[in-house]
Order: sequence, then C-alpha cells, then structure tokens
Amino acid sequence: METVVKPVENVEGRIRVPGDKSISHRALLFSSLTEGSVEIEGLLEAGDTVSTMNCLKALGVEIEKDAEKITVKGKGLRGFKEPENVLDAGNSGTTARLLAGLLAGQPFHSTLTGDSSLRKRPMQRVIEPLRQMGAFINGRNNGELLPLSIRGYDLLPVNYSLPVPSAQVKSALLIAALYSRGTSEIIDRYGTRDHTERMLQYLGADIKKLGKYHIRLKSPVKLKGERLRIPGDISTAAFFIVAATLAPRGELYIEDVGINPSRTGILEVLQKMGAEIGILNRREYNSEPVADLLVKGGRRLKGTEISAEITPRVIDEIPALAVAALFAEGDTVIRGAAELRLKESDRLKSIFVELQKMGALVRELPDGLVIRGGAKLTGARCESHGDHRIAMALAIAALFAGSESVIDGSEAVQVSCPGFFELLNGVAS
Ligand code: S3P
Repeated sequence: METVVKPVENVEGRIRVPGDKSISHRALLFSSLTEGSVEIEGLLEAGDTVSTMNCLKALGVEIEKDAEKITVKGKGLRGFKEPENVLDAGNSGTTARLLAGLLAGQPFHSTLTGDSSLRKRPMQRVIEPLRQMGAFINGRNNGELLPLSIRGYDLLPVNYSLPVPSAQVKSALLIAALYSRGTSEIIDRYGTRDHTERMLQYLGADIKKLGKYHIRLKSPVKLKGERLRIPGDISTAAFFIVAATLAPRGELYIEDVGINPSRTGILEVLQKMGAEIGILNRREYNSEPVADLLVKGGRRLKGTEISAEITPRVIDEIPALAVAALFAEGDTVIRGAAELRLKESDRLKSIFVELQKMGALVRELPDGLVIRGGAKLTGARCESHGDHRIAMALAIAALFAGSESVIDGSEAVQVSCPGFFELLNGVAS
C-alpha cells in the first residue's frame, strides 16, 4: 500500500497513542500464567500483539474481548496444551523470543515460526541459555533461525549475564526461570527495559532487583492478578513528539504515555537537543510510571551525540531521532547502535537509504549513523522496508519536506499503530 504525505506547518491538538507494545505482550503472556482471570485495559490491538494472542490461544488460553477490555483466563504455569499446529509469531520478535522462554518449560513439543523478516532475525541469543537450562531446541542453522522446534522439560535455574542488550532475551530467561526450582540470577549491565521484572513482581513472583544490574528470581511461585492497565506507547508517541517539535507552529498534548525510565531516552535526547516537552500528571499503573506529555512547536534543535550508554534506552526511537537530527543545527552522531541492524529491517541501512531519497545527507557507520543537520528535504517516493518504525519515521520527515512524498509499504504501521496516518492527519495541517 502507498500513502501520500503532504508538507505541514502546524501540529496541534490532543491525542492518545495506542497501548505500549512491550507491556501489552507481557500482559497477555503473564496473565495466561496466572491462576484466575485478568482484565486488561488499553491493550495494543495490532499485528504484533495479535500474534501473541493467537499463539496463546493455540496453547489453550481463552481470551475474550469486549468494548473496554480483554479478559485472559489464566492457565497457571502448568495448564497449557500441546498446540496442534505451528505457532506463528508473524513479524514480532518479542512474541517469538518470550514464547520460546515459555515453551522451554512445557512438557510437550511445539514449533515456532514467523514471517520472512522474523525468520532472518537471530534466535541463538535466546536458544543457547534456554538449552543450558535443560530445554531441547532445534532450528535452522543449529537454532540460530526460525522455525524452532522446542521440547520443554523441568528446567534448571539460570545464572546468566546478558551478552547483548536485549530485554527479549532477559524476559525469555525470566519466564523460563519460573519453571525451575531454585534461584535464578540474571545480570543486565545494559539496563534494558524492565517491564517483565515490574509485571512479574506485580503478579506475585519472587523477583528482586539487587543493585542496578542484578536480577534475582526464586521459583516456583503461583502468579495471581485481577486487572492490568496499559499506558500509551512512548515508542509510538516518539513520532508525534518529533513532529510537534519540528512543526513551526502548534502545541501537542499526548495523554497517558508510559514513562518507564528504561524507555525515556527519547525525551532526554530531544530535550538536550532543545525540544520543549513538559511531563505532566505523573501517576502509576501496575508499577509502571505514566504521564501526559505537552510538546511545544517551533523549536530550534541542535545536533547531538547518542552513544552506547544510552542506546538501549532509545533503541526503538532512533528512526524518529534521525528525523529530528535532519532539521537540527550541526551533525548528530549515533554510535553503539549495531543492534538496529537486527530489527524488523536493518534500520541503519533503511534510514540511510530512504532519507537520502529526500535529499538528506546521511553517512552509515557499522554501528550507527552521522546525520547532517539543516537539511532542505524534497518530497520523494520512499519505501518502508516492511518495517513499521521506518514507515512512521519517513512520514514525519515527509511532513517537513518541500513537496509531497509517497511512502510505499505504508501498511507496515499495522504492526504497532494501525491508525497512525489518521492520528497524524488529525493533528498536522
Ligand atoms: C522489546 C525489546 C527490544 C525492542 C523491541 C521490544 C521487548 O528488542 O527493540 O521493540 O518488548 O522486550 P531486543 O530485546 O531485541 O533488544
């Protein structure tokens, strides 16, 4: 599908973005592990979370939906059934990797696959420690690639220091650790997103953070919950924050955004660049911090440096930040972001190739990008590379080009924000 995006001068209004994708996956998965029913409000209903829902249904979980909420009838840790068919994680790395952790603890056989993008993404990072815990896992290239065939078992506790900055790997191991008897210890020296730790604790798991990097989980325990509320996704809000900041006029109020500190690198980087973003009405939903954001337009931004210390906290927002950097004064240098090559597309390459079509001056580094600020973009025909965040980044860049642009493959936005273009048209003029 192609979408035409016209230049604008004003981004103004009040919006709510769809539910946080990371928290939504976890809400579905962890609710299904509880004894009882959990009502989930604000769940993201998009391609990726539908993949998680369908896989859970295939494992025997009942999920009901009404106008206000989704109800998951928990199976407890041991109530899942052997799936009759292959489990399809679609485009969703979080579904595949977190589910691998869950399947590693099940006393039955299952096969897990995904779409052509997910079948290229690395699985060894999660398979290797799950094998150490006692699961039998095979896959293409010795378990590096989907489809994976998993035969779970009683697992051993894990003692593992993450070799790559991946919340998905950390989460898969924490889920698998629920199926062991004893104490598991995980070191996450990168400080990746901690939604799993927060939600498992909220649902009654014996999980503690010891110092900054060290997580300890004792099992077995029974999980129990009644209600979960999902805030808006800061990674989706990021595109609107950048649009509102770059617009010559207007002011955008974004209600109900998750501001977990492991995700707010985008606010810190943009504020350092000169954006004016107010964080209002701070509150908490099931141990997750939430706020409303007020973003002022007409800001002059300065280029900045984004390095390895902050990249895990801003990893999904680099496409949005790359667009902000185009209009800043001076160069922006992004380093320590090689993980971006392993996302839904090779995002360093996608950004480099597509923004140049609009006339941007961008240089590709092995682990990052150098973006020349002060660009005068011209409208162009661009391609999403089947990647939701690339489609959204291109749409924001196109708002500030000299003429209209066309984004091919724009249906990719369905993965995390199905109403993205409607929401954008509602505030941008
Ligand atoms: C996610 C973790 C990150 C992130 C992805 C969602 C999660 O991936 O990029 O969009 O929900 O745990 P990695 O674990 O590969 O870093």
